[in-house]
Amino acid sequence: MHVVALVNQKGGSGKSTLTACLAVAAREAGERVFLIDMDPQKSLTKWGCRRNDKDLPVESVAAAKLGSALAALADRRVTLVLIDTPATDSPASDAAMRGADLCIIPARPTIFDIWSSEVTRGKLKTLSKEYAFVLTQCPAMRESHRVSDGAAALEAMGGLLRPFIGARVDYQEATRAGRGVTEIGGKAAEEMHQLWASLQRRLARCAPRDRPHFDPPEPPQRAPQPPTTVVMT
Ligand SMILES: Nc1ncnc2c1ncn2[C@@H]1O[C@H](COP(=O)(O)OP(=O)(O)OP(=O)(O)O)[C@@H](O)[C@H]1O
Ligand SMILES: [Mg+2]
Repeated sequence: MHVVALVNQKGGSGKSTLTACLAVAAREAGERVFLIDMDPQKSLTKWGCRRNDKDLPVESVAAAKLGSALAALADRRVTLVLIDTPATDSPASDAAMRGADLCIIPARPTIFDIWSSEVTRGKLKTLSKEYAFVLTQCPAMRESHRVSDGAAALEAMGGLLRPFIGARVDYQEATRAGRGVTEIGGKAAEEMHQLWASLQRRLARCAPRDRPHFDPPEPPQRAPQPPTTVVMT
């Protein structure tokens, strides 16, 4: 079983959309996929309700329960777990990063996304976790400087999975209908099949495991003790 978390502190970078579309593409390729939604916004859970597909279950899991949830999924012979996370630096995203074999950092080709991705990457490096970037919501003019500069910046920070994902209304239409873009065809479907193939190759470099090696979060720092009461005499 492989566990992949989609993480980026930046809101709207495309985590939930990519999670849903990659899940469908992986399922079509024969993976036994399970989706975990750790975002209190519950975008992925709502997408799953709309889809109502027993072959692509979505469950909301709290940070403290992630380790046991992953162990149970490994026992159920799930082959791929995709975890969607909130935009914030939170116990949920922290737990997802620790529980994953590989983290995907989706980023739009904007400087704010690149800066935010750098922060997320820093966190992953501290945790000694493997990661790869995906450049998403790219404007139609693929070779525009903004896209190539963004790609170069992400490439310099670590692996960048290909292809770049375009800004296409098909992503919005597919997710609105509880579907993945591979189910509606066209260019978005092509690029999502290719992205899944790239992710699969990248995952082949991470050793699969029977049971997830969940690193429990650091115990919370002991709160500073209040000063001992000084009794005025
Ligand atoms: N490739 C794409 N083309 C066009 N629109 C997209 C694409 N990817 C995502 N979107 C749209 O961008 C918005 C943000 O996407 P999404 O919700 O997936 O991001 P997110 O990182 O999960 O956001 P949040 O941090 O709030 O959870 C959504 O309205 C979504 O439909
Ligand atoms: Mg989201």
